Amino acid sequence: MTDIAIFGASGYGGQELLRYLATHPQIRVAAAVSGRWAGRTVAEALPHLEGFHEGLRFTAPDQPLPSSCAGVFLAVPHGTARDMVPRVEGLKIVDLSMDFRDESDGFVYGLTESNRNRIREADRVANPGCFATGALLALAPLASIGALAGDVVLSQTTGSSGSGAHAKAGTHHPERAQDMRAYKVLSHQHRAEIEDDVGRMGAGPCAVSMVPQSGPFARGIFTAAHVRLDPRLDSETDSDTDPEFDPFAIFAKHYADEPFVRMRPDTPTLRRVARTNYAEVSLHVADGRAVILSTIDNLGKGMAGQAIQNMNLLLGLDETMGLKTPGANA
Ligand SMILES: NC(=O)c1ccc[n+]([C@@H]2O[C@H](COP(=O)([O-])OP(=O)(O)OC[C@H]3O[C@@H](n4cnc5c(N)ncnc54)[C@H](OP(=O)(O)O)[C@@H]3O)[C@@H](O)[C@H]2O)c1
Repeated sequence: MTDIAIFGASGYGGQELLRYLATHPQIRVAAAVSGRWAGRTVAEALPHLEGFHEGLRFTAPDQPLPSSCAGVFLAVPHGTARDMVPRVEGLKIVDLSMDFRDESDGFVYGLTESNRNRIREADRVANPGCFATGALLALAPLASIGALAGDVVLSQTTGSSGSGAHAKAGTHHPERAQDMRAYKVLSHQHRAEIEDDVGRMGAGPCAVSMVPQSGPFARGIFTAAHVRLDPRLDSETDSDTDPEFDPFAIFAKHYADEPFVRMRPDTPTLRRVARTNYAEVSLHVADGRAVILSTIDNLGKGMAGQAIQNMNLLLGLDETMGLKTPGANA
């Protein structure tokens, strides 16, 4: 077993890391760091984890980490992770905040499906944002063959857990239930992250317009990405019989061997991916345009699940370890 530590273990991300890692065959949580819950056992603070992480108590942020730790997850707010890195120097790091998504300080951007070869060689991973993950999984098949450029319009609806464990007016149930609203229209912080990463994949210059929305559910992000189809891929041209230029064949090939991305012939759903590290993607083409839909659990593939996938790679383990739990249909 390899020992790891979790900072921010009382947050939604930290709690999900504890849940997934409860059954991980090769990783043991040796330190769960939380100011709020310091001294309590995992089962006292999180009764759904009774019987797992036996003997583990949350420890205060000023306590030293066990010397056995080989890796650390930083599941803390933006701006705080950067201050913590000097404390965990020498350990494998997966940071869930946006502090290093520009690949500063030796961090590699952690969209696993696009970057796994670089992640395997790295010591530090900047886990992608949840909106960015949903968008990039939709755009990657076109971006990676150089068939994405120009305007990309993203309509993305997230659940309330995207705002973390601390209640705010915008996440309060009476305000959020049975309602739908947009926020940070055209100004969300993940826009630049998406533009940067499609560029790394091989896209031409893209202008991303994002309309993030708050949905009346706790988990999940539903993404609709609208793009103009590269003329080479437009089935009305004479290239329509060549699989190299068939958009459906391109998506099928791109995700054929991906353990956590499933192509769907119709619409993806949030329910099927909830509490899992799976993502669903579907492609719809008409009149020279394409709409790509994707669903993820913002706390799963959008956060803790992908963070574990990346930590598995940093530690030289099979990237699927601890993550192959099926979703549910109801
Ligand atoms: N929620 C999502 O869907 C999502 C998805 C992707 C990425 N992220 C990012 O992942 C990180 C964690 O998100 P979250 O949703 O788990 O947040 P959260 O629920 O608010 O939890 C963050 C935890 O960090 C600790 N913390 C708070 N302020 C701190 C400080 N100044 N210094 C050290 N620790 C502090 C707190 O634990 P104690 O008070 O107990 O110490 C808190 O429970 C954030 O950067 C977030 O943007 C979130």
